[in-house]
Amino acid sequence: MPETILETRDLARSFGGLRAVAGVSLAFEKGVVHAVLGPNGAGKTTLINLLSGDLPPSAGTILFQGRDITRLPVHERVALGFGRSYQKTNIFPELSCLDNCWLGAQARLPGWLHLLRPARRYAPVRDRAERALALCGLDHRADAVAGTLSHGEMRQLEIGMMLATEPELLLLDEPLAGMGVEESWRVIDLLKRLRAEHTLILIEHDMDAVFSIAGRITVMVNGAELETGSPDRIRASAAVRDAYLGHEDGGEEHAA
Ligand SMILES: Nc1ncnc2c1ncn2[C@@H]1O[C@H](COP(=O)(O)OP(=O)(O)OP(=O)(O)O)[C@@H](O)[C@H]1O
Ligand SMILES: [Mg+2]
Repeated sequence: MPETILETRDLARSFGGLRAVAGVSLAFEKGVVHAVLGPNGAGKTTLINLLSGDLPPSAGTILFQGRDITRLPVHERVALGFGRSYQKTNIFPELSCLDNCWLGAQARLPGWLHLLRPARRYAPVRDRAERALALCGLDHRADAVAGTLSHGEMRQLEIGMMLATEPELLLLDEPLAGMGVEESWRVIDLLKRLRAEHTLILIEHDMDAVFSIAGRITVMVNGAELETGSPDRIRASAAVRDAYLGHEDGGEEHAA
């Protein structure tokens, strides 16, 4: 029996009169890479923001392992095992790669521990940061200043920062955005490695990447779920083709 790790019920978020997420009910299964596709403006990032706690919903419910977390703030979701990467790269450019991961690792320490000892000397944090850096493939760049990395390496580092919190559930918003082919495949390989031990919710415009990695796909249009199913089912769906895949350019502009 597949185990549902995260579930939304009639989840909605409006901005003024615009229904960015318009009543979405989805179940995300443990250990499955679940990709969310849809044209620009479909509501994908807004959905991720609701799941991560970055945005409060206008209506509806979010359940994590059956527990209602709809109103839980971001840091409490991180403590439950949520990790999140952003559509726009979100690193500290003046710090080294290892220090970036350090900041990620610290985010999961209980607050009182910060008061007792400098996190730099606290071995579990250091270990976690080093593990995350190795996992994202940047251990050879530990001392490099993050701002000097290539675009692809910055995205890897962002994933590393997220891994430093030792999350169970990864929310990834366009991890391949703006990458060249070679860089993309490096990150796809990384995601494939991560899926062995994590649940991934992945927004990505790169169809080859999505179909090579996802076990389940939801297509969103105008804030609503158009269809959810296996990659084969999504590929064969006339509704999906009409609404989205059938467009000559995939219905998309690649966000930089
Ligand atoms: N903070 C905000 N204030 C007002 N409108 C917003 C806000 N965030 C998103 N929107 C609007 O909500 C709709 C959904 O946006 P969202 O960013 O979720 O789409 P998306 O599917 O991630 O698109 P893209 O593929 O371009 O990243 C869009 O019309 C967008 O303009
Ligand atoms: Mg988006």
